[in-house]
Amino acid sequence: MTPRTTRAVCLVRRPHGEPSPDDFAVEERPLAPLGEGQLLVRNLYMSVDPSMRGRLERTEKHYTHNFTPGSPLDGRALAVVEESRCTSVPPGTFVRHQLGWRDRAVLDAADTDGAGRIDPQLAPLPTWLGLLGQTGFTAYVGLTRIAELRPGDTVLVSAAAGAVGTAAGQFARLLGARRVIGTAGGPDKCALLVKEFGYDAAADYRAEPVREALARLAPDGLDVYFDNVGGRQLAAALHALRPNGRVALCGMMSQFGDDRHSADINQLIQAVLKRLTLRGFIVRDHDDLRPEFERRVSGWLRSGEVTARETVVDGLENAPGALLSLLAGGNVGKMLVRLDGPAPAGG
Ligand SMILES: NC(=O)c1ccc[n+]([C@@H]2O[C@H](COP(=O)([O-])OP(=O)(O)OC[C@H]3O[C@@H](n4cnc5c(N)ncnc54)[C@H](OP(=O)(O)O)[C@@H]3O)[C@@H](O)[C@H]2O)c1
Repeated sequence: MTPRTTRAVCLVRRPHGEPSPDDFAVEERPLAPLGEGQLLVRNLYMSVDPSMRGRLERTEKHYTHNFTPGSPLDGRALAVVEESRCTSVPPGTFVRHQLGWRDRAVLDAADTDGAGRIDPQLAPLPTWLGLLGQTGFTAYVGLTRIAELRPGDTVLVSAAAGAVGTAAGQFARLLGARRVIGTAGGPDKCALLVKEFGYDAAADYRAEPVREALARLAPDGLDVYFDNVGGRQLAAALHALRPNGRVALCGMMSQFGDDRHSADINQLIQAVLKRLTLRGFIVRDHDDLRPEFERRVSGWLRSGEVTARETVVDGLENAPGALLSLLAGGNVGKMLVRLDGPAPAGG
């Protein structure tokens, strides 16, 4: 029988400063009856993303909508279709969509992606939200289109042990970078960068100022900086970049915390002196690159040239904890929540 309700993670109140577990609650919510062209899907994996932090706090208009107290959160999810009123997407199909943070959802088939393409034989289901999903795509767009990576470049990636960072380091190498350097918090993550993700060198930004680490690890300077964190690390990279260097501004993790009011922006004079290019981007504006990305990265996965890594937390009720952990650096690779329920065939 078609379920009438779903459990969903709801925002209880907007956090002021650091979010806490009490800001969230799992509640029962009604499911709309299935209309023509619609699907009932059961979520299997949900993406946990840093951008959610801003969406919890913010009230002013932004490129994506803010969460509302009393309403469910949302975000990217990978689901299996349970019921369908769309002939091209039959039950059993795997799809990606935006109504995560709940067990089930009713949505328009037109609002899904991946139907017919998500093949668990090619890569395990979590990879379709990570390396082969928006995360890997962000790394690919940032390196190829935004930073215009060239063979022989020396590349720096920050938050290098995270979802976008583990992808960016590996892709940079495969796209012809000569030397790839990563920064991460703590010695264990730094060791992993070199051992598992093909980085030539890693710097622990908590143990040593990145500016000093770069003088040691990239004495001839950088050509490209893939910036996931902003703040002091961006300032350090501006110093280390060579003339005509390029910066892909992907995200600003450091701006959630103490670094928010730092004066590092003064280092922007480096951009003038060295004729640097700094370019921000939002991945969804670059969907035209998606077929090329899927073709190349699925090839690299098949040949074993890239490694997909996820940190998986079990259970809808633990999803807020997964978000808090991500913001504190508790993940390696893509942070995901796996939902309970029978495993679908091939999943
Ligand atoms: N532009 C776009 O379209 C787009 C799309 C997707 C993601 N993004 C951005 O890409 C970045 C990475 O996202 P992700 O999903 O891959 O997350 P992630 O890197 O897997 O997780 C965030 C990481 O940030 C690091 N971090 C937390 N606070 C920090 C601080 N104060 N200073 C330096 N590092 C800090 C932590 O790693 P450590 O343990 O190393 O500190 C944490 O693991 C984020 O800035 C995100 O907003 C942008």
